[in-house]
Amino acid sequence: MEKEPLKIAIVGLGYVGLTLAVSFARNGLKVFGIEKRKEVVDLTNNGIPHFSEAGLDAALKSVVENGTLHAYNEMEEKIPPCDFYVITVGTPLLKGTHTPRLDMIRQATEQVASHMQDGATVILRSTVQIGTTRNIVKPVLDATGKQYYLAMCPERTLEGRALRELSELPQIIGGIDGKSSTAANSLFSLSTKTTIIVSSPETAEMIKLVDNTSRDVRFGFANEIARACVALGIDAYEVIRCGKIDYPRTNVALPGLVGGPCLEKDPHILMYSLKPTGIELEITKASRLVNERQPSETVDEIAKIAAQKNIRKPYTVALLGLAFKGVPATNDLRGSMSLKIYEEIERRQDFGSVNGFDPVIGADHPPELPPAIKMFDNIKDAIKGADIAIIANNHPFFSKFNIDFYRENLSPNGFVYDYWNNLNFETLSHRNQFYYSVGNVWE
Ligand SMILES: NC(=O)c1ccc[n+]([C@@H]2O[C@H](COP(=O)([O-])OP(=O)(O)OC[C@H]3O[C@@H](n4cnc5c(N)ncnc54)[C@H](O)[C@@H]3O)[C@@H](O)[C@H]2O)c1
Repeated sequence: MEKEPLKIAIVGLGYVGLTLAVSFARNGLKVFGIEKRKEVVDLTNNGIPHFSEAGLDAALKSVVENGTLHAYNEMEEKIPPCDFYVITVGTPLLKGTHTPRLDMIRQATEQVASHMQDGATVILRSTVQIGTTRNIVKPVLDATGKQYYLAMCPERTLEGRALRELSELPQIIGGIDGKSSTAANSLFSLSTKTTIIVSSPETAEMIKLVDNTSRDVRFGFANEIARACVALGIDAYEVIRCGKIDYPRTNVALPGLVGGPCLEKDPHILMYSLKPTGIELEITKASRLVNERQPSETVDEIAKIAAQKNIRKPYTVALLGLAFKGVPATNDLRGSMSLKIYEEIERRQDFGSVNGFDPVIGADHPPELPPAIKMFDNIKDAIKGADIAIIANNHPFFSKFNIDFYRENLSPNGFVYDYWNNLNFETLSHRNQFYYSVGNVWE
């Protein structure tokens, strides 16, 4: 007789939950996706992803069609008891604070607790402050009196490469005890060849926070070097690029905007975790400061350049690249620094209307975008007659155009401010006239 497939419920079908659900469905599990947003449930059951992710369209369609993945609005009774429950709900910061929200984790755990039966394995996948698995999730499960296994297995994929990385990246497994690690390990061994069992859920929680904080610090340092170079009249891009040619001990990142749904919050979650100990993480804090201050600092600089060029106020702007990153390409606007740049522009009286263009988002106007940004479905129309073209992400699309394209289409004194040096090499000779970038000397 054919063996019944393992059953898994995934609570939260966002970026993490949906890709994970598809990955497990492709690996032969019967997947029940639980998602409180009805529109996401409907789209999922029609085989349509609610965000853009490489390979997801075809993969989702196939697992929905063959019946291995189905989404529900809540943990309904008709969903059979599952072998595994994975919690992938969001963990944003409370608005206007640096305090991580735990309410969604609590609620999702309660749903799991009421549905699971003895012997189930519960896995926390969201990025959380240290101690969440043991101090928040475990007590809710304990209160049921049921026997269960519990592990923290953080999501570490990159948006845009999630499906591939779910099978290629090592999975970190931090069980609450040895049997829990073994149980969680048996799940992830189905989808990836490398699993790493660590000594506790706290270690697993910390690995995730350290991964993202380390990136934030690295980019913060690059932005600090950009500030220093501008102040000293040196070109930061040249310093960083030339300094590491065939030199094995330096690998400074290039400067640029640092945001997105993870980096904007995870260093804060790490700092928050240390609060009870009285230890302040100075490097982490400083990097966040440098990265968070960059939009206001650079928009001041952009206004200064415009004034020096005697451009008539209010300056009209084409904001190019709205998603939080361009590589790998995404339409995700969460934590996008392009929106912070927009906020800075909007605050200043010197600036007027803002056109928007994004190679992935196209002519859509997603609800997260401020209504005042007028979206265009092609770059030429977006920059036509504008005074300033701000290239705010590193989508390779922007490297296809040389500076002449902008000069021909912008207003006569118009200029490009490129946060990512997308045009850098070919435009060195145009510097100080039409093309400026972070860390670029212009005075
Ligand atoms: N986006 C990434 O690439 C990424 C990478 C690594 C880690 N993470 C972490 O993973 C977690 C999830 O991230 P995300 O980007 O998928 O977030 P998300 O906001 O896109 O998705 C979370 C989903 O959970 C749903 N939800 C919340 N509470 C629910 C409940 N009780 N029942 C059913 N559904 C519920 C929400 O409606 C939402 O669709 C976060 O902690 C994040 O930091 C994200």
